[in-house]
Amino acid sequence: MRRIRQTAVIGAGVMGAAIAAHLANAGLDVLLLDRVPESLTDEERQKGLTLDSPVVRNRLARQGVAKALASKPAAFFTPETARRVRPGNIVDDLARLADCDWVIEAIVEDPRAKQELFDRLAPHLAAGAILSTNTSGLSVSALAEKLPEKLQARFLGTHFFNPPRYLSLLELIPAPATDPQLIAELGEFARRRLGKDIVVCKDTPNFVANRIGVFAMSNAMHRMQDHGLTIAETDAICGPATGRPKTAVFRTADLVGLDTLVKVTRHSHQMLPGDEERAVFQVPAFLEQMVEKGLLGDKSGGGFYRKDKEGRRQVYDPATGDYRPLEKPDFPSLTAVKGIADPGRRLAALLEQDDPAARFAWQHLRDTLLYAVRRIPEIADRIEDVDRAMCRGFNWELGPFAMLDAIGVEAFVRRVEEDGIAVPESLRRVPAFYKIEHGRQEAWDLAAGTYRPVADADGEIRLDLIKKAGGVIEQIADGSLVDLGDGVLCLEFHGKKNTIGSELLALTLRAVRRAEDEGVALVVGNQGSLFSAGANLALLVGAMEQQQYDAIDRMIGDFQGATMALKYARVPVVAAPFQLTLGGGCEYVLHAAAVTAHAETYMGLVEIGVGLLPAGGGTKELALRALALAASYQTDPAPFLFKAFENIGMATVSKSAEDLFALGYLRHGDMVSMNRSCQLGDAKRQALALAATFRPQIPGEWPAPGRSVAATMKSRLWNLRMGGFISEYDGVIGGLIADVLCGGEVTAGTPLTENYLLELERENFLRLCGEARTRQRIEHMLATGKPLRN
Ligand code: NAI
Repeated sequence: MRRIRQTAVIGAGVMGAAIAAHLANAGLDVLLLDRVPESLTDEERQKGLTLDSPVVRNRLARQGVAKALASKPAAFFTPETARRVRPGNIVDDLARLADCDWVIEAIVEDPRAKQELFDRLAPHLAAGAILSTNTSGLSVSALAEKLPEKLQARFLGTHFFNPPRYLSLLELIPAPATDPQLIAELGEFARRRLGKDIVVCKDTPNFVANRIGVFAMSNAMHRMQDHGLTIAETDAICGPATGRPKTAVFRTADLVGLDTLVKVTRHSHQMLPGDEERAVFQVPAFLEQMVEKGLLGDKSGGGFYRKDKEGRRQVYDPATGDYRPLEKPDFPSLTAVKGIADPGRRLAALLEQDDPAARFAWQHLRDTLLYAVRRIPEIADRIEDVDRAMCRGFNWELGPFAMLDAIGVEAFVRRVEEDGIAVPESLRRVPAFYKIEHGRQEAWDLAAGTYRPVADADGEIRLDLIKKAGGVIEQIADGSLVDLGDGVLCLEFHGKKNTIGSELLALTLRAVRRAEDEGVALVVGNQGSLFSAGANLALLVGAMEQQQYDAIDRMIGDFQGATMALKYARVPVVAAPFQLTLGGGCEYVLHAAAVTAHAETYMGLVEIGVGLLPAGGGTKELALRALALAASYQTDPAPFLFKAFENIGMATVSKSAEDLFALGYLRHGDMVSMNRSCQLGDAKRQALALAATFRPQIPGEWPAPGRSVAATMKSRLWNLRMGGFISEYDGVIGGLIADVLCGGEVTAGTPLTENYLLELERENFLRLCGEARTRQRIEHMLATGKPLRN
């Protein structure tokens, strides 16, 4: 892999600062440079600073870092990560560029300004350094032309998507003289180290994702007016109902900024005189007017949507140019398809309906999908690149070619013909755009008229392909045991929100046994939208209603049995959490021998929010970790226990995998994968590395912290209660958590076993199950998805 350690970003605006933050997230050192201010602020003048003071000269870059630190969602994994970014300016710090392996330009979208900057940077770049431009859509070849010849081979476009931490698409745009080897190496580096999904684009206006994405948005805006629909109605149709994110068209526009959207749309219109759908890129009059009025979206406090003084949501009415209260759109077709989990089936089912929403959806998708088909090979040769660009850059659930498969290519063609619209000849020959052959995915090559294997990216594992190729060892409704090869088995959750119920607990036991008998290691991971929302609360509340405490006791016993089986397995168990990993899901992770977490892991023991304490071994595990840590430092365990108490009592959830080290949920030697597509491959590699020298855990015995530590915790609860920070019931639950953490009503030093702590967990959990306030909390969570603090 190419060695990239020191980086520089020039331009500390919206994108530059956020790109710098993400490079820092990946562990790179970043020099962030902006211009030198031409005048002092009042504050600087009052402080006696001058235009020669370094703080003034670096002000713009410093402000960039400060904005990235304050941004929501957070740009940095942790606030400390910002220390990897050094602010500077393009006058005093040019010599420092000599140490940089990769310099990214992210200044204003103006070719002349970019060109002038390159002239200044060029003499200072190291001999092998990469220079890239983060243009949204300017011609990379035209920018390259004026560079010194020896730099041209090392110059390319790197188009990050906003926000770069969260949108994983990175478009790489080579200029004619760019070294192909460099594209391959930088792509690999960005994929593994920055977690990016790479699409190598042709140098056409707005490249791939913005070309198709902005077409879809503009088309929806124009068609909305033809169909007489409102903004809220259009968003309801263009969201999940048609395989796209909830932000759909207008909410996305508010996030991007209406001015930016207008610029990008206009750029397509200007630069694509021969485009058969050029008129679609004509900016609608209402959008122009909004930009003129300064209604730019979230950055100006309102765009298509805003909140009134009372916090009620309002929506823009293009007819009156004013806002009105937001009403939830109501279409029978949308209601009918809402519950369909599979995005392809949802989309197909919608298009079969016949109401204004379904008719709009058809016309809008028809135009968009035909447009995408006609863009091959103009913007990309491979259909899978276009699909990946839309999914990773615009958060579509399905790219346009996957949508065509969901509708059925033949059915699509027929319906287009019925509309009296020309069908591209290349489309008539397509049976389906994707198929799976011997566990490998193949994609239709529109130019060649045949299938071609989709290239496997190094280190990536796809469970769906392995399963289609006969890799399922065992399957139940909510989970599967899958053979990852080389003796590594994977316990996959695939139920609703990946909640854990009794069948999955039983499968866990079998998974451990089979890994021990037939393999060398077990990975617990999946490729859904979250690791696990926790134990299945619906089952629990049913048993509570019937007062079946024996059944609840058995459920807890089974849960503890499953997590203990993971912990004491005779082969290494590696957990691979990502996104939401809550309650019982977190307890699974805490009992694994090692963890390969994705960088975006939001994990925590949140049981208190539903009136419970972690009783699948979670409270016990945090207690044991605290005791072991204290023992290793030969020190008082109380401070470590207080931290565990706080984690559980405040239902702390990590904001990134990085946070989990500080919380004590990840340990030295655990790994963080930046790329979701590589996570299972990384987990498998870690499992194999551990398997070679694995020694199972030995059950231990610990001296109880005892009731005096618990008493201190309870007095803290009392203070919080008196200060009005927690409810009376939070105090009750907190007290029980303190008891479990400290080993119950025993004197300090009494020997504690793991099973004894598990029994305490169980007893206290059962006690809470008998409380009406716990039931209210669970019911509230099931109904609203939010915790109730009664
Ligand atoms: P911005 O206006 O927020 O920031 C530009 C920054 O560059 C400012 O801090 C400005 O002081 C600085 N700057 C201007 N001229 C400079 C020079 N000669 N030397 C050093 N610094 C200079 O712009 P934004 O949105 O960050 O865009 C930057 C680039 O990224 C543009 O090319 C844009 O098209 C592209 N882009 C923007 C996206 C977005 O969502 N905003 C997404 C993807 C690409």
